Amino acid sequence: MASSFGVCRLHMRGWGSLAKSFPKTEACFQRKFGTNAAAAQAEVPRKEEIEEKAAPKPFIDVQAERQEQAERSVLISCQSKTNEKKFLKLLSKHGDIKKYFYYESYGTYAVVEFANKESIASLLEATAIPSVNHESTVPFKSRLLSLRGSGPAEQSRLQCEPQTTIPINELIQRLSREESVDRQVTSLTEAYQLTEENVHLRFLVCSLVKDIAAAYFPECIIRPFGSSVNGFGKLGCDLDMFLDLDGISGRNIKVPKTGLSLEYQMKRASSERAVTQSILSVIGECVDQFGPGCVGVQKILNARCPLVRFAHQPSGFQCDLTANNRVAMKSTELLYLYGALDQRVRCMVFTVRCWARAHGITSSIPGAWITNFSLTVMVLFFLQRRSPPIIPTLDHLQELAGPGDKSVIEGNDCTFVSDFSKIQLHNNTETLEQLLREFFEFYGSFAFTKMSINIRKGKEQNKPEVAPLHIQNPFEPSLNVSKNVNGTQLERFVALCQESSWLLQQSDISTPRGGSEGQTPVPWGLATLLLPSQVAVIKGRKKRKREPASERIKSLLESLKNKNQQKKS
Ligand code: GTP
Ligand code: MG
Repeated sequence: MASSFGVCRLHMRGWGSLAKSFPKTEACFQRKFGTNAAAAQAEVPRKEEIEEKAAPKPFIDVQAERQEQAERSVLISCQSKTNEKKFLKLLSKHGDIKKYFYYESYGTYAVVEFANKESIASLLEATAIPSVNHESTVPFKSRLLSLRGSGPAEQSRLQCEPQTTIPINELIQRLSREESVDRQVTSLTEAYQLTEENVHLRFLVCSLVKDIAAAYFPECIIRPFGSSVNGFGKLGCDLDMFLDLDGISGRNIKVPKTGLSLEYQMKRASSERAVTQSILSVIGECVDQFGPGCVGVQKILNARCPLVRFAHQPSGFQCDLTANNRVAMKSTELLYLYGALDQRVRCMVFTVRCWARAHGITSSIPGAWITNFSLTVMVLFFLQRRSPPIIPTLDHLQELAGPGDKSVIEGNDCTFVSDFSKIQLHNNTETLEQLLREFFEFYGSFAFTKMSINIRKGKEQNKPEVAPLHIQNPFEPSLNVSKNVNGTQLERFVALCQESSWLLQQSDISTPRGGSEGQTPVPWGLATLLLPSQVAVIKGRKKRKREPASERIKSLLESLKNKNQQKKS
């Protein structure tokens, strides 16, 4: 019931506390941007301003702002020792630069955001088509440019923003230096989450692909979805894109009952799926033939959700382009909302995803593994089951929806509230350490054989079908999002949850191990959970007792400690 749900208004534990807990995110907003110092300063929110912000913006507003920013941006390949001053001077001839940054991906690139869209037109007008010997060029012009010209190389290299995560070993060391499990969890989140620049680049790549698709569908939008925008993206995650043609004009024009009117003649196909396949086939071909930087294009049109997969070399993103995939867009919005409600949601999702990847429970190769999406839903469900709940059920979010939130996709009601200020939260004060331990405990003993995970109800339900793991699709209730998972993979997940739960209960493992400056720190707490597991070993040797696993971990910790001592002496 709507009235009985919360005691704590969202803004009380809103953005301000998030900013405090994510100093790195804040810092990345405060890095230097732009030539125009005044403009750049105006862009950078002061700490007090961040603190004052009441509630997060609705998903749709954030998307629209990012899209607009991407339309005002260009991507330029340059040299690592480019003379920055001259480079910026060249670009500034076309208008004020609002932000810029550099990164490395098979070379050095600059993302430059102009203050006005007109600057892009001016810049492109002054850009030359390359003349090449022995080859020919496809004269498709895009906002992916190359900086040409001679001149003495600079002494210093351009300062590049990282676009990839730190390796797991480095992460383990970093976490081992933290003072509490709570800090370990936030530190992991800070290390892995997408940066401001990476998100900018993702929207820019969508905008570049849109320019190709716009040759056929001038009013189309390419929207990123999935982890690029749901708040749970890790640096290096794929870029899921959705070719959106629903907004094209003419759909809502009512044909008058009497009198003359006109309508478009349009080719017809047997089904919506057939239309999607033919559109993706043609756009995929264009991306392949004309898209600068787009390589390894594969058309996977017979999949349940037809897609075109390719690598965008200048950004380093693996891209999946889909069409007619509105439910996934809605799931993305829902995940964004849950992630923005309470900072612990994102921290838990990042930690569990990282833990799962470290142990090979998830994989980038499709198969019988649990997917990141399923894992995320499992974390959300767990947080709904806390007492008091940390996040509301989807049914409750639906009750709070206003008329503008109404959404029915292919007969499925996907309505839920978008205005954060309408959501009240319970005052749950559990720490991340408690939650992490309880998460492993919860799933280490969950009745997977009988029960289904359901975030709509926030309660486990009887399984409607035989499948090792049943997670009800939030918007298509007849579907199981983890249908692909087999018994072996589920067993591994459960065994690892049990092992991790046990590890976090050991006092010698769940307290900082110390270690002096300059020494490799001894893994403890969350860092220990990311070390290679003994579960596989136990399974391999069939029926070995659980004790040896703990003994092995203890001895691993001891050997690390000894190594440290040897180094010291
Ligand atoms: P990454 O592993 O970081 O790419 O996470 P992701 O959330 O982007 O997952 P993925 O690329 O596999 O899928 C993109 C989006 O499609 C997800 O965020 C969901 O919104 C949606 N999605 C993925 N798998 C399923 C599924 O099995 N069922 C439904 N309904 N949606 C899914
Ligand atoms: Mg993805």
